[in-house]
Amino acid sequence: MGSASSAKPVVGIVMGSASDGPTMRKAAEVLDQLGIGYEMRVISAHRTPQRAHDYAVSAAERGLKAILAGAGMAAHLAGTMAAWTHIPVLGVPMEGKLAGGLDALLATVQMPKGVPVATFAVGSHGAINAALFAAAMLALSDPQLEARLKEFRRRQTEAAAAEPPESPAI
Ligand code: RP5
Repeated sequence: MGSASSAKPVVGIVMGSASDGPTMRKAAEVLDQLGIGYEMRVISAHRTPQRAHDYAVSAAERGLKAILAGAGMAAHLAGTMAAWTHIPVLGVPMEGKLAGGLDALLATVQMPKGVPVATFAVGSHGAINAALFAAAMLALSDPQLEARLKEFRRRQTEAAAAEPPESPAI
């Protein structure tokens, strides 16, 4: 999975397996909407440890400002990324068969002190929020992106229903 946006990548979206792709593509869709450049890679902390190392150590010099790391089960990808780079790592635990993804949530969120991973909700909600959080960080030094993010939020508010839908006829 070597897909990317047309803009220069400032966010790296990595995932432990191609099977995580549908979830992590939700993050990419948000970045697309906000005009933020990104790249996507499948990188496993345990199946491709050299790829994980090489990606993380080169991330800052290649211009990445944040890494979104999605992984399931033991979910050590985000922590591995964070171990090899100082740029912010945003972890997204994948849904799974063990308590719906509690394994991945704990593996991602329970980083011992010294090497932080910002951890988001399990599954697609987490992927979307990780992308929005990366956007908020980048917007601090990019007024045009700040304006786009505010507009995104305004439209989201506008689209929120004030009343529930009618019940279907029985
Ligand atoms: C993790 O193991 C991946 O992030 C994925 O969520 C999970 C299962 O991987 P596959 O067996 O689908 O490749 O490393």
